[in-house]
Amino acid sequence: MALSFWSPPYCVGKSYEKTWSFEEWSTLLSEVIARHFPVIVPGGFLAINIADILTFPDPSMPRIQADNVATKRQRVTRQQILAAAAAHPDYNRYQLAALLGCSEQTIQRRTEHNNVRGGKYQVQRKVKLVGGLVQEWAEAAGFYMYDRRVWVKDPCWVNSRWHSLSYRSVDEFEYVYVFWKPGITTVDRARLKRQEWADWGSRAVWSIPSVRSNDDHEAQFPIELPRRVIRLFSAPGELVLDPFVGSGTTALAAIEQRRHYLGFDLEPDYAALASRRTTHTPALI
Ligand SMILES: C[S@@+](CC[C@H](N)C(=O)[O-])C[C@H]1O[C@@H](n2cnc3c(N)ncnc32)[C@H](O)[C@@H]1O
Repeated sequence: MALSFWSPPYCVGKSYEKTWSFEEWSTLLSEVIARHFPVIVPGGFLAINIADILTFPDPSMPRIQADNVATKRQRVTRQQILAAAAAHPDYNRYQLAALLGCSEQTIQRRTEHNNVRGGKYQVQRKVKLVGGLVQEWAEAAGFYMYDRRVWVKDPCWVNSRWHSLSYRSVDEFEYVYVFWKPGITTVDRARLKRQEWADWGSRAVWSIPSVRSNDDHEAQFPIELPRRVIRLFSAPGELVLDPFVGSGTTALAAIEQRRHYLGFDLEPDYAALASRRTTHTPALI
């Protein structure tokens, strides 16, 4: 292979990775990376699209005590709640909230002194950086870190449930890490036009809209991502691999850019979907 480009499971609980531990996920990725080394041509590239894990559970992390100003502005006092509860012993928290004109959380916080973020009994979650791990696994396999780019996607509020009651930011960028296998690399500036080099070829930050949620695949990347990587790091007629091919986006970009491709997926339905999508795209002669 001249180039392998892929986006693996991110260890964030998608349906195809729900049952894996972080250790199992790490083993999968480090093995996949190690197995690339013998099949990438000398001077060729391995490019990985991945994101940091924004909600990594850590049982040793102290509970985050949110001193929430918005809650404090709520005028309902503990005494008022206790009085209302005494007057209506059959009312639950929601009914008391409706009676007093506040939220159910206010009732709970005032009565149980609970201001813990992220669920009372849940393990706290932190940000886990993934790039350093990927670099370690790739360098252990014999690759060298050649470059890294940032893909700015649409803000994904669902993955950032903590944003409204914390200072944390929304999930809106990922990385492309590029590793190089020592050997002779053809540098061909003619692969892109002058304006393309200026617009994205030489730029570290790529703004590309995300694929809207769809019924095909829950974690598709936009075709513009493999299109750019393929155009930069391979030549027409070369072979491009995606061992986590999903709905076949890398393969479609490869066909479009007149490269050969090879793709795998663990889920037979996704492999079938990728086959269908590529079969309906005119193949490279
Ligand atoms: C992030 S998605 C890739 C999506 C793809 N780039 C697209 O645009 O459709 C990761 C894919 O890896 C697949 N996968 C998970 N574990 C795998 C394994 N051990 N071997 C091959 N594929 C696997 C999942 O089924 C999923 O389709």
